Amino acid sequence: MKTLYINNIPELPYYVTEALNQLRISLGFSGENVKTIMITSSTPNEGKSFITMELWKMMAEAGNRVLVIDADMRNSEMKSQWGFELKSGDCGLVHVLSGRAKIKNVVYETNIENAYIIPVEVLIPNPINLLEGNHFRELMQICRKEFDYVLIDTPPIGMVADALTIGPKTDGCLLVIRSAVTPKRAVENSFNLLERSGVPLLGMVLNRADMARKGNYYYNQYYNYGEYDGKR
Ligand SMILES: Nc1ncnc2c1ncn2[C@@H]1O[C@H](COP(=O)(O)OP(=O)(O)OP(=O)(O)O)[C@@H](O)[C@H]1O
Ligand SMILES: [Mg+2]
Repeated sequence: MKTLYINNIPELPYYVTEALNQLRISLGFSGENVKTIMITSSTPNEGKSFITMELWKMMAEAGNRVLVIDADMRNSEMKSQWGFELKSGDCGLVHVLSGRAKIKNVVYETNIENAYIIPVEVLIPNPINLLEGNHFRELMQICRKEFDYVLIDTPPIGMVADALTIGPKTDGCLLVIRSAVTPKRAVENSFNLLERSGVPLLGMVLNRADMARKGNYYYNQYYNYGEYDGKR
């Protein structure tokens, strides 16, 4: 198995780490059958990839074998955000979904113990056909047997159909909401889309909340992620 070195691992403030831990533990209470989890949001830039990768790291640190699948084949920024490089000839999600690589050749171990990744090696404008094909179904079936958790980072559900295609093949979804930015109607639209496509909503993540605001410290209804200064 090849190794990807993740070079940018941000130091998070304690309250963000604490909230992520609560999310990780709560997901554990969702039941043994909840193993494949899609992470999406209503609009771009709400923090889907950030939450996915931090959760991945924390689940792995807690001793789970965790795979993250970067399924943002249109616009993945994982490589630059997390600081890893693919060499020429390295395969990723597009290869396996198009039948040009075997699953074992697209799963990479990383310098984080127990944390594995299927990266996106090439961006494509319309991945829907690939996501609807049998290779994706097979990938999900095999990965759910091999790992304790599989986290799938996706494009926004309100913008393109990718998450709606992926969601029904997972055990459920986390909806990331950017505090004070995401319009309420966009969130309502996401609820409707998830419900119509039969994707269980496991939880919502209120990201980038203003932690100085009174009441946010004990905000129970959502997993609450304070903003940090973004230095990596
Ligand atoms: N809680 C947070 N505090 C500070 N910065 C954050 C937080 N969450 C996300 N960010 C930053 O905001 C930017 C956008 O986040 P991210 O890429 O995770 O969003 P996304 O929803 O995956 O975007 P896209 O729709 O383009 O895939 C990144 O630079 C990320 O590091
Ligand atoms: Mg993203």
